[in-house]
Amino acid sequence: MTINKKVSRKRFIQTVGVGAFLSPLALMANESEPRKIKVAIIGCGSVSNMYLPHLSKSKYVELVATCDIIPERAKLAAEKYKIPKHFPHIDQLLAGADFEMLVNTTNMQEHGRLNKIALKANKHIWSEKPLANSYAEGKEVLAMAKDRGLKIWGAPAVVMSPQFEFMARAIKDGKLGKVAAATAHYGHTGPSWSAFFYEKLGGSLPDLGVYNLASLTGILGPVQSVIAMTTIITPQRTVDDKGKIDVVAEDNSMVVMNHGNGILSHVMCGFNFFDPYGHGGKGQHRGTITILGTHGNMQLIGYDWAPSGVDLATFDDEKGKRYVEDPREYVWEMGASTVAESLSTGKSCLITPEHALHVLDIIEAARKSGETGQRIELKSTFKFPLF
Ligand SMILES: NC(=O)c1ccc[n+]([C@@H]2O[C@H](COP(=O)([O-])OP(=O)(O)OC[C@H]3O[C@@H](n4cnc5c(N)ncnc54)[C@H](O)[C@@H]3O)[C@@H](O)[C@H]2O)c1
Repeated sequence: MTINKKVSRKRFIQTVGVGAFLSPLALMANESEPRKIKVAIIGCGSVSNMYLPHLSKSKYVELVATCDIIPERAKLAAEKYKIPKHFPHIDQLLAGADFEMLVNTTNMQEHGRLNKIALKANKHIWSEKPLANSYAEGKEVLAMAKDRGLKIWGAPAVVMSPQFEFMARAIKDGKLGKVAAATAHYGHTGPSWSAFFYEKLGGSLPDLGVYNLASLTGILGPVQSVIAMTTIITPQRTVDDKGKIDVVAEDNSMVVMNHGNGILSHVMCGFNFFDPYGHGGKGQHRGTITILGTHGNMQLIGYDWAPSGVDLATFDDEKGKRYVEDPREYVWEMGASTVAESLSTGKSCLITPEHALHVLDIIEAARKSGETGQRIELKSTFKFPLF
């Protein structure tokens, strides 16, 4: 009998029985070539230009289809990355392609709806942020996935960086003493290509603040309560797809969070922050997250989605040093390939849907606080610490 090298250990056992495990050759073939997860991507706009090159190089991924309601985009992406099929609608994608995981990189407003459709069709999901359009919808989506034995994960992938791990471990190891406060910021002058960033359920919180919220909660723990203010600085914009539009979603946000044990943190994000490094943020070498404790402080250098070091100073080393300048394999667009690896090998994943949902809960609470002027208590949580 010939052994197909692409067959996974699980599938191999299902096909030929446990006896196959006695063959060292079978094991070797399987170890060297993991099972590839068949992936379809929906939404072939700006971010897909980062996802597709990364996914096409992953040994855990076989890209089988693209989909976009602008059919030329799906077709062009399929041609460029040699993906066999392309579709103009999710229904056609589900009917016409055989795949296991959907990567959702559509407009933010479409995420909840499309993720539910895909779950009903028994697909695992990697979703760009947010993974649903309200906290309630997020819980519904996660419950749907669990009921069906499926997995869903949402961006961002900031917890995967070695700089994040360094900061989380420094706190866990008590290097900062008793942690008191943290502040983080991320912004630029706003995307110019699509209106959805400025429409209802768009906004700077789910597009930008989400990174810092994931980092600070990942490092300091789940948030118990939130006070926030949100405003609109630029009421009208001109964007490529719709021309002149009214800005409806907040484009300027300040969120103060209580993580418990007296720890307070603050996130500031917006689409009106001049940044010489622009939307891409490449070359940003200033600190963007600062954490202060009784024995030390540390600062993340560069944005949390593209970090380039951590400056740590303590009572024992007052001048401090820069650590982890090398991001190693980390890139922000690695989330979908990381979860494909998890599906293929069963390896556990630092990114969890509960964490993404907690961040969504904070965003919703921040908006509510901004509207009402009240402090909002949160009930959601996630497994913490991550390390
Ligand atoms: N652009 C970036 O640098 C960037 C970086 C990180 C995350 N993101 C996130 O990625 C997502 C997409 O952002 P983008 O900048 O690529 O936007 P985009 O407008 O460039 O692309 C979105 C694409 O989705 C398609 N689309 C919308 N609704 C659809 C539907 N129902 N079915 C199929 N296709 C549909 C649109 O036609 C468009 O081509 C957002 O959640 C955004 O927050 C973007």
